[in-house]
Amino acid sequence: MSMLEVKDLSIHFGGVKAVQNVSFSIDAGIVYAVIGPNGAGKTTLFNLITGVYKPTSGEIKLDGESIGGKSPNELATRGVARTFQNLQICMNMSAIENVMVGAHLRLDRNLIKAALRLPSLKRRDAEMREEAAELMRFVGLDKFVDSRADAMPYGALKRLEIARALAMKPRLIFLDEPAAGLNANETIEVDHLVRKVADSGVTVVLVEHDMKMVMNLSERILVLDYGKKLAEGTGEEVRKNPDVIAAYLGAHE
Ligand SMILES: Nc1ncnc2c1ncn2[C@@H]1O[C@H](COP(=O)(O)OP(=O)(O)OP(=O)(O)O)[C@@H](O)[C@H]1O
Ligand SMILES: [Mg+2]
Repeated sequence: MSMLEVKDLSIHFGGVKAVQNVSFSIDAGIVYAVIGPNGAGKTTLFNLITGVYKPTSGEIKLDGESIGGKSPNELATRGVARTFQNLQICMNMSAIENVMVGAHLRLDRNLIKAALRLPSLKRRDAEMREEAAELMRFVGLDKFVDSRADAMPYGALKRLEIARALAMKPRLIFLDEPAAGLNANETIEVDHLVRKVADSGVTVVLVEHDMKMVMNLSERILVLDYGKKLAEGTGEEVRKNPDVIAAYLGAHE
């Protein structure tokens, strides 16, 4: 059984069929990429799977259990985390507090229990802070542990988003354009970071326009075009697919 199974998934916004009858499955432990031209439905697909949007029709199963229509918080407690194409960092908080928000999302369901139990909340807070600092080191943000978010460069904020998602201790993580707006060196660093996340045992679903990074990292690739599945397969298969060349790769080369 695959970790994630998506069957005939659709969402319509008025007349716009943003995702249309898309089916695919993702095995645990791989890096899976979703590519396609601007407006193809990649972010909408992420929003559907991570509970931001409710599908018009279709099925989403995590470990065989239907999760369609569940809230992002519920999904977080089941090990599904994500980053956002447009940074969702709280600029008036410190970097480490932003990471701790991720940990809080994971622990919310136990908050009342935790409040009634020793160790005290204060000690738990200290533990979470240490955990968050560790994650910041993991994503290469050691020197920003004490920084305010609004004092950090854009490239560092992109990695802070990943740290916050990892604080949810996900089994499955959705990264929406983690390298968007980064220079060549920063892109290579994010490439390495995504590899490190995958090697730590987290299944990765990646939306990215940087084809080098996609081909380098992904075991399998789903190609969307106008909300529909155009192709799916290994990098080699997708690259050779004439429909893909015509609709996407061709247009970009
Ligand atoms: N909430 C919404 N209401 C109406 N239309 C929407 C909504 N969300 C997405 N769409 C439309 O759905 C289509 C797919 O958009 P989406 O953002 O998923 O594309 P994308 O593949 O992520 O593109 P990009 O590469 O530019 O990020 C677009 O036509 C978009 O305008
Ligand atoms: Mg998008």
